[in-house]
Amino acid sequence: MIDMNEISSLCKRRGFVFQSGEIYGGLGSVFDYGPLGVEFKQNIKNKWWRSTVQEREDVVGLDASILAHPQTWVASGHIQSFSDPLVECKSCHLRFKEGDVEGRCPECQGELTSPRMFNLMFKTFMGPVEDEASMIHLRPEIAQGIFTNFGNVLSATRKKLPFGIAQTGKSFRNEITTGNFTFRTREFEQMELEFFIRPEEESYWLDYWKEERLNWYTDLGIRRENLRLRRHEKEELAHYARDCYDIEYLFPSGWGEIEGVAGRGDFDLRRHSEVSGKDLTYFDEERGEHIFPYVIEPSSGVDRIMLALLIDSYHEEKVEREKRVVLKFKAELAPLKAAVLPLSRREELIRLASEVNLSLKPHFMTAYDDTQSIGRRYRRQDEIGTPFCVTIDFQSLEDNQVTIRERDSLRQIRIPIEVLTTTLKAKLSGEPFDALPPGGSHWLG
Ligand code: GAP
Repeated sequence: MIDMNEISSLCKRRGFVFQSGEIYGGLGSVFDYGPLGVEFKQNIKNKWWRSTVQEREDVVGLDASILAHPQTWVASGHIQSFSDPLVECKSCHLRFKEGDVEGRCPECQGELTSPRMFNLMFKTFMGPVEDEASMIHLRPEIAQGIFTNFGNVLSATRKKLPFGIAQTGKSFRNEITTGNFTFRTREFEQMELEFFIRPEEESYWLDYWKEERLNWYTDLGIRRENLRLRRHEKEELAHYARDCYDIEYLFPSGWGEIEGVAGRGDFDLRRHSEVSGKDLTYFDEERGEHIFPYVIEPSSGVDRIMLALLIDSYHEEKVEREKRVVLKFKAELAPLKAAVLPLSRREELIRLASEVNLSLKPHFMTAYDDTQSIGRRYRRQDEIGTPFCVTIDFQSLEDNQVTIRERDSLRQIRIPIEVLTTTLKAKLSGEPFDALPPGGSHWLG
């Protein structure tokens, strides 16, 4: 398996992920997504949004603000309970999570203080005065915007139980223990669904969502043997959870959570009702009574899913005695769907290749590349997971045909330019590479 240093160096070299503030020495555990990373991340989020919201009748979307009313975090229990025990070195004042260090400070061997609780929420101030009254927190999970809008969504959509509200967005945690590249960062992106149910159906829906979500990852292309479900021990449960299953991926450092599927009971709606004084119950028409629905919450992190996909898709092969690195992403996730490559930098070839590239642009994300040898350009596209390369050669000027090379099989077909878009569309949606369009042929050399 590839190690984390190799993945992070590939990510930097090819423009997936950069260390934030690198020119200033780097901002700890904060990352920026480069030209390919932003496409890749968007494709993951789009797939989640399609399957969680658009393809379902029982889920609607939301985009709540990052800044929330201060009472939100009082009601949710985050002010009180979202903390880690922390010890501090009495000499160099470095801080560590209790349990991560034993005895003395690992940096200077200084004596450590006894643990005190450290709240993981970032604080800032709203308005011109920086005092206690204007202090607000950056959200540590996106779920609370869903709970505080429960009444609004319910009356706007007239949804009946069971139904869900989904959203994606940034969360912030002032993590003490960081590292492992983008696995644990201080700013990250979540995709969360709060699925509201009748209390007596909790175990049915918890089972349903843990299976549904596990299958979503195999559908992304992650190998099943690298995924597992792990039920939380009672002591591990978050302050709001009644039960929870982690979906874990086998990272180079060991099994790590990419998603939690938790039963939050009626904790959040009940607490927001109590603190706000607003009625957040649901009127059950069948029974003629008001109830607080229970919640099943599948909550995943885009950054961790992206990291798992990069690791799982990474392949090294020997082709003609040379090492070939390939990211075997599913086509729908690949940042670029096709690269258009003129065989040489002759003006006529560049002109035709640029025209071909522009004709593909309205349909899918492509790139044009005329630098270096064709072999090196193929390798570069393999290393960023581009499913197809479209090569324009001298023959193309005569017969208006181009060659498509498939990333995984390395096979090539030659087809007329006029059917290039439809052919690529068909191949990107899973048509076998060998199926030829009218006028197409297997390329001979
Ligand atoms: N609303 C529930 C919740 O936030 P969580 O298990 O704390 O639950 C859910 O977080 C997901 O968010 C995790 O499975 C992980 O993918 C992602 N996540 C949490 N903390 C993270 C961090 N510091 N860096 C990157 N991703 C993180």
